[in-house]
Amino acid sequence: MGEVQFLSLKQLANLWSTEPESLRLWDLRSPLEFERCRIAGAKSATLQELQEALRLDPHTDRLQVVIAQQPEQLADQLRNLDPRLVVLRGDLQDWCREGWVTVQHGRADLSSARAGREPREEMMRSRNLVLHQLFEHESSTYTYLVADQQTGEAVLIDPVLETVDRDLKLIDELGLKLLYVLDTHVHADHVTGAGVIRERMASSAVKTAVSERAEVPCCDLRLSDGQQLQIGSHNLTALATPGHTDACMSFLLKTADGDLMVFTGDALLIRGTGRTDFQGGSSENLYQSITQRLFALPDETIVLPGHDYRGQTSSTIGMEKKYNPRVGGGRSLEDFTKLMSELRLAYPKKIHEALPANMKCGLRRDGRVFHPQTVNAIPEITCEDLHRALSESKTKGVRLIDVRRPDEFTGELGHIAGSSLVTLGPDLEQWLTRADRSEEIVFICRSGGRSGQATLMAKEKGFQFAVNMQGGMLRWNELKLTSPKLV
Ligand SMILES: [Fe+2]
Repeated sequence: MGEVQFLSLKQLANLWSTEPESLRLWDLRSPLEFERCRIAGAKSATLQELQEALRLDPHTDRLQVVIAQQPEQLADQLRNLDPRLVVLRGDLQDWCREGWVTVQHGRADLSSARAGREPREEMMRSRNLVLHQLFEHESSTYTYLVADQQTGEAVLIDPVLETVDRDLKLIDELGLKLLYVLDTHVHADHVTGAGVIRERMASSAVKTAVSERAEVPCCDLRLSDGQQLQIGSHNLTALATPGHTDACMSFLLKTADGDLMVFTGDALLIRGTGRTDFQGGSSENLYQSITQRLFALPDETIVLPGHDYRGQTSSTIGMEKKYNPRVGGGRSLEDFTKLMSELRLAYPKKIHEALPANMKCGLRRDGRVFHPQTVNAIPEITCEDLHRALSESKTKGVRLIDVRRPDEFTGELGHIAGSSLVTLGPDLEQWLTRADRSEEIVFICRSGGRSGQATLMAKEKGFQFAVNMQGGMLRWNELKLTSPKLV
């Protein structure tokens, strides 16, 4: 060991753009300085915290880059500390001014994507842009929430029915105003959440939209090629990219900063493409859509697909042009159509349910009130869901079955107005033999355990629409959902 090595800003920028994984950045400046301008990925720490981290992690050979207010003065203290240490020399403000990979005033910039590398999560935010990539695991679908941070105006792209609650909760927590729910196409593998969201947010006049070529009568906007939507200071353009289906659209987002992102639905996937064997699909059209339309976008455009089955989250047009095994590397139309014709994929599991439902914006007009989330194989709704449905008088035809003991039913937690007592055990077993299997049933108990068991029993006996109320009467009381509870 000996003298401390110094690194210039330029050297760090080079390393950062080529081998970011080989670096660990420690920012020893004051939290205020750190907040003002920092390098994306740097950790704010004290000298003691740095020493402790090095002691605990002696085996990594990553370069430990120290950022300090007065690096020369710190050199003495860092000498002999660790051979992996280097100290950054130069004013970090220069780094921020140069617009390298920085976070400045909460803004993450996209320079690494411009350099052709995979964007990282922290780079998914341009100034004033809120972008959440949400995942539904059963169909491996990505739903995107895009918003203008300042105005709060938001758009949701490709929501899935089963995860509507999650999406609406996030929108609520972020204080956003949802303007549009867009579907990139009529999906065959999942039911869209668009219609349910519009119903649930009736007061906010959210509009659902899909391509005009999809001929979905219930949607509010029929998008034509080139149509633009304004999301606060960001601009979204609908691009017709048929091929996976004849009505597929991609959505090109140009942020207020001029950064480009394209939501490609099932046209262009990361190192793949959508299939072309149903719903008016055409390999020729898909090839044209990708190579003529999407690949015509600047190389640094970030690609955000509708699905991924291998854990990848984003790519760039440049990367797909180069590495996409189906359409990249200059593959010909003949190669592509031959490859697609030989895929012989099984039909999506949900196709018979999803297509008719999606032609109705995902609203299965089967009189169903609740759209439960499945937790450990049990379909569940929240107390708030039930309370909302009761308050809006939407529970006509829904059975509320309380499976506690009689003394609990009339005890201190009370019970929900209109619920019937059918105690778990022989009473419930008996009841299930004679009840209507097509009815929607909400099972309720003290904390959600027994009603969960009841829901499973009912499901096994063919009750398709049995759901469990999460948290039971304990949660109901905790939330002070006093009306319309009977006491
Ligand atoms: Fe699809």
